[in-house]
Amino acid sequence: MTKNVKMKKDMQAYWQSLPELQAALMEKIAADPWRLTYHQMPATGWLNDPNGAVQFKGTYHLYHQYVPETPNGGATHWGHKTSQDMVHFKEEDIFLSPDQLFDEDGVYSGSAFVHDDKIHFFYTGNVKHEGDHDYTYSGREQNTIHVVSADGFTVESREVVIAHADYPAGYTDHIRDPKVFEHEGVYYMILGARTRDNLGHILLYRSDDLYDWSYQGVFLAGNEEQGFMWECPDYFELDDSQVVLFSPQGLLPTTYNYHNPHTVGYLTGAINWDEYAFEPETDFVELDHGFDFYAPQTFEDESGRRILWAWMGIGDTEPEYGNPTVARGWQHAMALPRQLTLENGRLKQRPLPEYQSLRQHTQTHRLCEIEESTLKGEIYELLVEFDETPRSFELTLRQDSKLSYQDGLLTLKHGESGFGRRKRMIPLTDLSQLQIFSDTSSLEIFVNDGEFVMTSRVYPSPDQQMIHVTGDAQGQISYWDLKI
Ligand code: FRU
Repeated sequence: MTKNVKMKKDMQAYWQSLPELQAALMEKIAADPWRLTYHQMPATGWLNDPNGAVQFKGTYHLYHQYVPETPNGGATHWGHKTSQDMVHFKEEDIFLSPDQLFDEDGVYSGSAFVHDDKIHFFYTGNVKHEGDHDYTYSGREQNTIHVVSADGFTVESREVVIAHADYPAGYTDHIRDPKVFEHEGVYYMILGARTRDNLGHILLYRSDDLYDWSYQGVFLAGNEEQGFMWECPDYFELDDSQVVLFSPQGLLPTTYNYHNPHTVGYLTGAINWDEYAFEPETDFVELDHGFDFYAPQTFEDESGRRILWAWMGIGDTEPEYGNPTVARGWQHAMALPRQLTLENGRLKQRPLPEYQSLRQHTQTHRLCEIEESTLKGEIYELLVEFDETPRSFELTLRQDSKLSYQDGLLTLKHGESGFGRRKRMIPLTDLSQLQIFSDTSSLEIFVNDGEFVMTSRVYPSPDQQMIHVTGDAQGQISYWDLKI
């Protein structure tokens, strides 16, 4: 990061060419029936992780990893959306771009921390040096950057607070995704890391003023079975418990868990403040059992709710499964925001009740009365309340996507419209409720009032709208069209 070194990219030329590149993408996007309706996506191109989620002076801000000029990713910016109600969002100007020597290959993920009437953002500045590098063991910098903003739109200051060279020894070049929290007047930052032996770690720093940070040690360390890198660590307190949430890469699949290349999960436990280490009291629990869910981050809103945003996508799923929207100028979206609570030691995830405002044309039936022709829809919510755990149950949600329950297994299966997504299962002895959100090209299935969730992109033909119900099940089914 020597001064007077030229940026790799001519940012002035970039900004000049962007409108034309975006206009070309927008033409394809406008004609795409798979463009989502009540989910958050930028105008064009690529989205991945949620960043800097916060409610500040009443307004909800959601920033996100964003590459406007291509649906294939690249050097990320922070896109920006705001909302007054968490349902209707406005797309704002890009908040941060990779236009500094300390972040010229990507304004990577990070978080927001409100202090003294300002938002303090922390993110990872990604830099790739030219040369013969693998960018894991050499060639990459991931600096920790601090941004101060009085309004969430304008940048007051932006500076490196931990330079890559100052990270502790023993790590690869992958150290990123800062999240800051406060404890007894002191600020703490956690960072995801990959050791040189390819283990996932979370590192802990502390600061008295949010500007000077000093390394304290390893907050949490994974073993060989827990992935090679932990991304996007988050820490929060919920109902007197302490939770660490993170996105491990490369967990080996078990019979029912970790079937995606990378996953998300959490541990509950307690911080040992003498050792600066998190001591888990539970095993790792996977947060979502679908195909497309990664890199979540949480924030506490002004009414005290713990809300989770997640990328409705994952890296490295190709060649097994992918997204045909790439040919249409865009890729990926955010999953619906979820409220987290901790009940009997486990996280429950429920869709925000605000989304009930989108419900239209209610239909309610007893399950046994449903005929094939009764239910039909594309952009809808379904609520199935069983009188008791069904003996068998099958619901065709869209074209060839089926959710079934049989012999203690809840199974989501896609045919062709899954574009390579096939089957995910959850073993379940009790099934009392299903709440399903369908958008043009997504399904989010909340099971037993938020006990489990399955999130999936799916690409049915828009005219395939039959919802079939079969099986040996008693209960009630409610249907709503959802309109934003
Ligand atoms: C997770 C992630 C983060 C990183 C960002 C880069 O999806 O790999 O670790 O900061 O995406 O876009």
